[in-house]
Amino acid sequence: MTFAQPATPSPQQLLRILHLEDSAIDHQLVCRALAKGALRCDIARVETLEAFTAAMAQEPFDLILADFRLPGFTALDAWLSIKADKPPPFILLSGAIGEAAAVAAIHEGISDYLHKDDLSRLERVIERALEVRHARLAKERADAELAASERRLAEFAEHLQTTIEQERAAIAREIHDDIGGSLAAANLGLAWLSRHETNPATLAQIQSATDMLQHAIGASQRIMRNLRPAILDQGLFAAVQWLASGFEKRTGISTRLATNNEHLSVAKPIELTAYRTAQEALTNVSKYAACTLVQIDISDADDVLTLEVTDNGKGIGAEELDKPSAYGIRGLRERAKTVGGWLDVSSRAGAGTSIILSVPLTHERQFPTE
Ligand SMILES: Nc1ncnc2c1ncn2[C@@H]1O[C@H](COP(=O)(O)OP(=O)(O)OP(=O)(O)O)[C@@H](O)[C@H]1O
Ligand SMILES: [Mg+2]
Repeated sequence: MTFAQPATPSPQQLLRILHLEDSAIDHQLVCRALAKGALRCDIARVETLEAFTAAMAQEPFDLILADFRLPGFTALDAWLSIKADKPPPFILLSGAIGEAAAVAAIHEGISDYLHKDDLSRLERVIERALEVRHARLAKERADAELAASERRLAEFAEHLQTTIEQERAAIAREIHDDIGGSLAAANLGLAWLSRHETNPATLAQIQSATDMLQHAIGASQRIMRNLRPAILDQGLFAAVQWLASGFEKRTGISTRLATNNEHLSVAKPIELTAYRTAQEALTNVSKYAACTLVQIDISDADDVLTLEVTDNGKGIGAEELDKPSAYGIRGLRERAKTVGGWLDVSSRAGAGTSIILSVPLTHERQFPTE
């Protein structure tokens, strides 16, 4: 296979060369010049465009040498007739062809040009053309492998996010059905007891148990909302508003929210991505920023959803984003990609941090709305 071909052919390797040449004498000169060198070559000669096309279709050649002007056609016609998407190196071996033709040949992708009087350099020119082709194929292969691996990573991230959301929804359902149901039943029981009890000491115990139960009911509702943001049913703005007010209450950090459109409506996966981005950004602010103010902006202007969470805290150092155990921002980046968007982190030491999610909305119809 061509991929396995070494950069420079080894002396044992047979190089299959197709020589497009109408002069038998010139062909003999080329064979003799190559026989003197270290390359082992098998050279076939063709004279016409039809014979060239037929030879190319029949067997794979490692290299093509071609005279420029041939009866009724030029080497450029031969080069352009090649159908293979990775053609072998094509070297013009000709008399003087003129500058315009040489430029046109290079423009069309021909590998090199050597004057027929300069056959002593032929071996070196062939080696160089093979090296260039080898390097180009190796780069193409590496690029393709990288693209495939990035695609696999993106698919995996998407799968992971979907699994996490499904798992969260399932846990939220269980808390609602099992724990929520039992707590509500226990609450009713305590209410019944307090209606039928007159002993003040027992009533005080019942009240204290009711308070504890109310606390547990509140906690289970909060956990459920965090697991499955049902609040998103009221739209992204309302959901982020709910996040922001809870954050402000818990941390005491003044939190402002602004939007160009309180009723902005985007596909569910984008909504969830934006919501989780705001959630992780706020969690990070409370853990690391040491700030006094957070500003959240949501916009759907110019058909791009942007969500920006900015704090006035200590900022993130570049090395902090590369911490091996930190998955928050890395996860947000992957998550943004799954909905066709991207994440920017902008920060200066002592001057705060901005986490910005951008998602073009022009193609959002590809996502289901539910
Ligand atoms: N708003 C912020 N202000 C200052 N530093 C921040 C801020 N957000 C993140 N950082 C820094 O960037 C690092 C990476 O954040 P990231 O969310 O990726 O990971 P983490 O919060 O450390 O861990 P995880 O999110 O996986 O639980 C943090 O460890 C912290 O040092
Ligand atoms: Mg984090």
